[in-house]
Amino acid sequence: MSETSRIRLGVNVDHVATVRNARGGRHPDPVRAALAAIEAGADGITAHLREDRRHIVDDDIARLKAEISRPLNFEMAATPEMLAIALATRPHAVCLVPEKRTERTTEGGLDVLAQGAVLGRAIEALRKASIRVSLFIAADPPQIEMAARLGAPVIEIHTGAWCEAITQGNRAEAESEWRRIDDGVRLATSLALEVHAGHGLDHATAERVSTLPEIVELNIGHFIIGEAIFDGLGETIRRMRAAMDRGRARVLAR
Ligand code: PXP
Repeated sequence: MSETSRIRLGVNVDHVATVRNARGGRHPDPVRAALAAIEAGADGITAHLREDRRHIVDDDIARLKAEISRPLNFEMAATPEMLAIALATRPHAVCLVPEKRTERTTEGGLDVLAQGAVLGRAIEALRKASIRVSLFIAADPPQIEMAARLGAPVIEIHTGAWCEAITQGNRAEAESEWRRIDDGVRLATSLALEVHAGHGLDHATAERVSTLPEIVELNIGHFIIGEAIFDGLGETIRRMRAAMDRGRARVLAR
């Protein structure tokens, strides 16, 4: 498969830090996981520094930046504190996400319509520092159009509702969420946005989403780290890579 058609895999190591923090101390180390993920074929590493530091902590971000050989995608809320950390760290990319203290994970996409001013300022500051910015949003046309107007070069489509509908066995809901993603991806591409996707993906859903040719990157965390308990991190990533390549090969065969 040529490099242009190959879909990139970003591995999110947040939940290695979740396990570490359950006991305190240094084990298991998310930076070691990142190095192993790269060794197994990850194209980049994603880490989310939350305001409450519930998993990744500041030192993890600094060590990831210093020690990994592939691009670091720093997920953060568009707050002054996080912006200062991003500008000091200078990761390859920043993915701006919404953040509520009470949520267990990033439950929905950003509301770029409501937060246009704050996001616009953050995008400008990050772009000036040559950091690639993406906005994590649902595949809703008004949100996608606003993301393009704000000057974000990349969006990451939230696949959580689609994956959840599949898990619940709700076929009608899954089909409607899939159509929303498919339409949204094409709209975004027509607006010259680079499109990524993530949240809740497993081997099967990653394979299916890879059949959308416009998507160039997937960011996957919880499933990979959970599955690594059974199959090992390297094997889980190699299987994920193979699933994504199978999905993309179906596009090329059309
Ligand atoms: N992309 C973004 C923007 C996220 O916030 C998350 C969750 O941290 C992911 C991808 C990965 O989601 P999951 O852990 O469900 O694979």
